[in-house]
Amino acid sequence: MNTTNKKIFVTRRIPEIAFKMLADKGYDVSIGKYKTPPTNKELISFFKKQSKRGVQYDAVLTLLTDPVDGTLLDAVGPQLQIVSNYAVGYNNIVLADAQKRGVEVTNTPGAFSDCIAEHTVAMIFALTTRLVEADKYVRAGKYKGWDPMIFIGSDLCGKTIGILGAGHIGERVAKHLGKGFDMPVLYYDVKRNETLEKEYGAVFCATPEEIYQKADIVSLHVPLLPSTKHMINEKTLKMMKPSAILINTARGPVVDEVALVEALKKGTIAGAGIDVYEFEPKLAKGLAKLPNVVLTPHIASARTSARDEMAVLAAQNIIDVFEGRVPKGKVENK
Ligand code: DGY
Repeated sequence: MNTTNKKIFVTRRIPEIAFKMLADKGYDVSIGKYKTPPTNKELISFFKKQSKRGVQYDAVLTLLTDPVDGTLLDAVGPQLQIVSNYAVGYNNIVLADAQKRGVEVTNTPGAFSDCIAEHTVAMIFALTTRLVEADKYVRAGKYKGWDPMIFIGSDLCGKTIGILGAGHIGERVAKHLGKGFDMPVLYYDVKRNETLEKEYGAVFCATPEEIYQKADIVSLHVPLLPSTKHMINEKTLKMMKPSAILINTARGPVVDEVALVEALKKGTIAGAGIDVYEFEPKLAKGLAKLPNVVLTPHIASARTSARDEMAVLAAQNIIDVFEGRVPKGKVENK
């Protein structure tokens, strides 16, 4: 099979290893000049212009911020075989539109479960030890000598962690906190996870509500689906303990961010660690002013090792499709 004249468009810069793998195969790879995430319209207009110039792509390597729908796929052209998403989440792609056009969609499963789990744990620690607040205080020159009454945090050992979504990442969170800190682990998922139960002593909860009511820390590791959108809302926040901490390293719209701000202001829950936002990169009004939150800019997977692994997987998915194999990251439209 002659695959060397294949054309690939990568929307934004990703680690070099991906370009090397694709170039080694003799493919013609080009990269978008976008410095910030392009909109769906910008991408469509780019692909239309390219088509007019007679340039059609066999593969597009997208980032999680690139909205891919039928109009965009049509603009790329009928030659398109695969959209390889450089992410585990693929809620930026309308799967049904791709399926209708016979375009394969892939993601990078399992590439960085450990670092997202570590980021989750770091956020929990930051909140229980009040690390970020204390750091700001010292830098602001406010520290005038040891004071037994300042920055009183809360204990972690003995607290219960509630995990929503027991995939690769949820599993690692259970391992770090259940094994490392002896924390009782509760989890909810649509299907049971034997490893979680056998290896980390996690207890399955039949409903997410049970987690909201019983856990001291609620950590989200579900994909963004119609069924998980706003699963954390005014009602579910009210089910949590007033001392509860919510961590979201999954996808912003899983949480109703306006309701979260209200809950944090009123003390419905005690704190939140947020890496992903409902209207990313915008934050809900008031969120950044709250002292009881730790906010990071969607960086839970920002490690060289993870980024490289994602790049390898994303490139390999393209190679596999071009060479007629089922790609490891094949996404099924369930
Ligand atoms: C993903 O790949 O889905 C992650 O959100 C990246 O951090």
